[in-house]
Parts: sequence; C-alpha cells; structure tokens
Amino acid sequence: MKNILITGGAGFIGANFVPYFIENNSEYHLVNLDLLTYAGNLDNVKEVENHPRYTFVQGDICDRSFIEALFQKFQFHDVIHFAAESHVDNSISGPEAFIKTNVLGTFNLLDTARKLWMLAPNQYNAGFENSRFHHVSTDEVYGTLGESGLFEETTPYAPNSPYSASKAGSDMIVRSYFHTYGMNVVTTNCSNNYGPKQHDEKLIPTIIRKAISGENIPIYGDGKNVRDWLYVLDHCKGIELAFKTGKAGETYNIGGRNERNNLYIVDTVCSILNELQPKSEGKYQDQITFVKDRPGHDLRYAIDASKIENELGWKADENFESGIKKTIEWYLQKYNN
Ligand SMILES: NC(=O)c1ccc[n+]([C@@H]2O[C@H](COP(=O)([O-])OP(=O)(O)OC[C@H]3O[C@@H](n4cnc5c(N)ncnc54)[C@H](O)[C@@H]3O)[C@@H](O)[C@H]2O)c1
Repeated sequence: MKNILITGGAGFIGANFVPYFIENNSEYHLVNLDLLTYAGNLDNVKEVENHPRYTFVQGDICDRSFIEALFQKFQFHDVIHFAAESHVDNSISGPEAFIKTNVLGTFNLLDTARKLWMLAPNQYNAGFENSRFHHVSTDEVYGTLGESGLFEETTPYAPNSPYSASKAGSDMIVRSYFHTYGMNVVTTNCSNNYGPKQHDEKLIPTIIRKAISGENIPIYGDGKNVRDWLYVLDHCKGIELAFKTGKAGETYNIGGRNERNNLYIVDTVCSILNELQPKSEGKYQDQITFVKDRPGHDLRYAIDASKIENELGWKADENFESGIKKTIEWYLQKYNN
C-alpha cells in the first residue's frame, strides 16, 4: 500500500477529489492534510471519514518542521497539492496569506518531497523512483483574454490579482524543480469549477442562496465577464489522469469548452430555480442587482484543452447545462435543510 498526500482535501475541489480517488485507487492509503481555514470543512468529506484507507490530519503547509515530520511518518510516495488560499476577493483585501500559503506552502511541500524522494539531482532513492508531485493550479495565471483567443499551455503568464500572482509563483517553483533537480512533477491549470461542496462565498452558491432567501442577487459590473465553466468532477478526473499518465515536467490545461458570461449563469440558475422551487410571486430573475465591479476584474478566461484531450484522452463528461442542474439540486438540499 502506498501513501499519498492530498493537501486541501476539505476544500471544494479537494473534497470532491478525495472520495473519487479513494474509490478508484485501492493501492493507495490517502492522507488528507488541511488546515481547516474558513474555506475547509470536514463535513465535505464525511462520506470517507471512517474509510480504512483514509486519514485526516489538520495542519499548515507553511509549517516546515510539521511538514517534514509528516513526510517522515507516512513516507509519502506521491503528493497531489490542492491547498491554497483561493478566493480572488480575499486576495485583494488581504494578499499576505495568499503569498504565504500559495508560494511558501507549495515550496515547503515540494522541497520536503524532494528531500525524501531524491538523493541528488536526477537520482531517486530506492522505492521512490516513480514518485510524483502533482500541482493543482488555475487558468488565472494567464491573465485575461479579449473577445477571442484561448489560453494554451504556451501562453505567457500574466497574472492580474494577488491570487493569480501567487499561483503563478507556485507554478514557477514547481517547474524549476523539474528543470533543476529532475523531479517528477506535473501541473494542471484549470478553468472555473462549479459543483457540490463549493464555499458559500463563490458565485454559483451565492446566486442560489440569495435567490431562495429572497435577497438581492449581486452581480459584478455589467455581468459580461466570461469564464470557462467546468463541472468539478470532470476536473477531478483530469487531475487523476494527468497524475497517472501525464509526462513529467509538463503542464496540462483543463477546461470544459463551456464559456458563459455571468449574466447567462445567473439567468440559467434563476430559470432552473423557477422550475424546481417556484416563488410564490414573480421570478427569481427579479432579484438580480448589479454591484460595483471588483478592481482588476479579468474580462474573459477560456481554455484550450486540446493537449490533455489529445495526449491523455481526457474529455469533460458534463456541459454547463447538465452540470448546473445537478449542482442546484445539491445546494437546494443543503440550503433548504
Ligand atoms: N475553484 C476553482 O474554480 C479552481 C479552478 C482552478 C484551480 N483551482 C485550484 O484548485 C485548488 C483547490 O481550490 P478550491 O476551490 O478547492 O479551494 P478552497 O478554498 O475551497 O479549498 C482550499 C483548501 O485548502 C485549505 N488550506 C488553505 N490554507 C492552507 C494551509 N496553509 N495549509 C493546509 N491547508 C490549507 C483550506 O482549509 C481549504 O480546505 C487551489 O489550488 C486552486 O488554486 C481552483
């Protein structure tokens, strides 16, 4: 049995990934390391809490001696690194935590893994020859697009928020460990995820929550910002595939080819809610209000996922319209109880 470290597994994507990975990979014992910041919640991983191949550890990836002791204890064979400060708005009001967790935290994990796995550059210790460090990143590192064009793996980095800058920094450190030490790393850069277990602060849970509680539904600016929406389980499948079959040192963009602007998102969610849980009077669309845009708000992100599709055979199973229905049903269960 190999031990795999999953960081940030009590957050949105990690908590969708953990049960999925345990189920599919009986050769692994999974250790979920999470600090349980405001963004992490153990309720998100309740379904695996008593699983024999699962251990939860609360701790901080920025604490080097703690991380070293954890690697010594579990002798991790692999790492998939999700933990991050991830909310762009918070990175505007308090950027420091983003630099610490996303840059320093990633460095601590990577460097500790290197020391356990490698004797010298390009020389792995016995038993760790196939060990892999998978870094989960975002398409926001590429900056913003105009009306046309797509982010490719070769698109120059141009991060615009402290969040995306800190993720770009972490991507560069991961890259350097391949080029300098020959470490077996892979990075995936994904577009906007949606689905169950997302924090209430994010766009889609906010729309649903405000709608059914009869409050104003806030939309930034004119609502024309475009994101490439991917159902979270499709992202998890892409990570698993790149982790297992991706080429060392490579990066893979993951995106659903589902570009939608915020006006479309809010209108679609309201229309589905009108069907599933009609208001006594009027439509949920009546509650939409426009609020002052966030500073440095990127206009459009869209991913060219051809590399992971053609080289690794990944394909999104859901489109936005199929995924959003499942998502709304999940949040109605949560918010109505
Ligand atoms: N959500 C998206 O749409 C999206 C898209 C592309 C990439 N990503 C990336 O995927 C990863 C996961 O994103 P998410 O949306 O699930 O984030 P999230 O904010 O929901 O979860 C992050 C988790 O990391 C934990 N964490 C934070 N700081 C920590 C620390 N110092 N030590 C240990 N744990 C810590 C939190 O407690 C939380 O459980 C991030 O790296 C993010 O950049 C997210």
